[in-house]
Amino acid sequence: TGAFTYDPGFTSTASCRSALTFIDGEEGVLLHRGYAIGELAERSSFMEVAYLLLNGELPDASELDDFVATITRHTMVHEQLASFYRGFRRDAHPMAVMCGVVGALSAFYPDSTNVHDAGQRLVASHRLVAKMPTVAAMAYKYSIGQPFLYPDNSLSYAGNFLRMTFGVPAEEYEVNPIVERAMDRIFILHADHEQNASTSTVRLAGSSGANPFACMAAGIACLWGPAHGGANEAALNMLREIGTPDRIPHYIARAKDKDDPFRLMGFGHRVYKNYDPRATVMQKTVREVFGSLKVSDPVFDTALRLEEIALSDPYFIEKKLFPNVDFYSGIILSVIGFPTSMFTALFALARTVGWIAQWNEMITDSDQKIGRPRQIYSGPTQREYVELAQR
Ligand code: CMC
Repeated sequence: TGAFTYDPGFTSTASCRSALTFIDGEEGVLLHRGYAIGELAERSSFMEVAYLLLNGELPDASELDDFVATITRHTMVHEQLASFYRGFRRDAHPMAVMCGVVGALSAFYPDSTNVHDAGQRLVASHRLVAKMPTVAAMAYKYSIGQPFLYPDNSLSYAGNFLRMTFGVPAEEYEVNPIVERAMDRIFILHADHEQNASTSTVRLAGSSGANPFACMAAGIACLWGPAHGGANEAALNMLREIGTPDRIPHYIARAKDKDDPFRLMGFGHRVYKNYDPRATVMQKTVREVFGSLKVSDPVFDTALRLEEIALSDPYFIEKKLFPNVDFYSGIILSVIGFPTSMFTALFALARTVGWIAQWNEMITDSDQKIGRPRQIYSGPTQREYVELAQR
């Protein structure tokens, strides 16, 4: 009993105060610490954005150098972690591996698990941001049976990740600057998105005082769902299944059919009732990457046509369903060479910055209590126990 506000899915409940990210869903605006996502994606780097989210201000040149040096110093993972991977089946989904491995980091770095120690929180934050590319690349290498590559600290954050993913010990790996820039931009576009399901999960897990590695593992588990980060994988699979533009109307009809569970993946958003500003940048990036690399993929034409048809259909207009960040990202990721199963792992890699920044904000917020939602009880009232023989 009790008079609680019933708000399943938290459509109207603010669970915290946050100074990190602002979204105006009606206007399609996304700001990190006041800076527009389009401008950050165009003009800054993922390391700058990570610094901004973690520290509140953009770094000056020497602050950025120091930050990059700190992150770079933490790129290696404990050697023993490699055996952790070997316990998985080779065909394990990278997100299944990531849930386990990231959660296990707390066992490898127990000296940064005391959430009440600001110094330990800082080291944990740096470790997580630094090690996620290594952890994600290892998941990929394990799945294709190639040896793990150690990080190369002479490379950029994105460049190092690309090399650990696509390089082999037998050959020099040359980072393609166009791909490196696109990768960095994709990381920026995924860095944070206020109180989405996985971020709220991280905050809720962290509200009990759980260590940051465990909280990230909780975030990864939540992100994996197809309604959330898993949508990038689902969107590209859908576009491939549609195949050619002439088959689009059939899928549009299915998406509108209430008796069919099918949804257009990469479409719709809880907060955006307008074009997702990240999708705008993503679409532009696909064009740039295709142009610079002189490649194309018919799936992009299918995506553009699908968007056009959906945005002129009364169903999508009335429900204000627009492409979201996941609609176009898979197209670039697949051109870069990632299998669809890695897409959500890349999302997790980049979102770790947002998760850890939000986690730090929560821990240092004096209003914060353990997250403990209430419920509207709908079960039976108290009744007598009946012995087994009498039931
Ligand atoms: N295709 C067809 N119909 C849709 C879609 C879609 N993609 N999205 C929403 N609708 C309909 C839905 O059926 C509902 O109709 P009605 O009011 O008649 O029941 C209405 O639009 C509102 O949908 P909802 O599910 O109540 O809205 P929500 O805010 O709970 O869900 C969402 C938001 C993102 C989960 C949903 O739009 C969706 O499932 N989209 C596809 C998956 C996807 O692309 N997810 C990525 C989200 S953005 C990045 C991220 O988080 O990773």
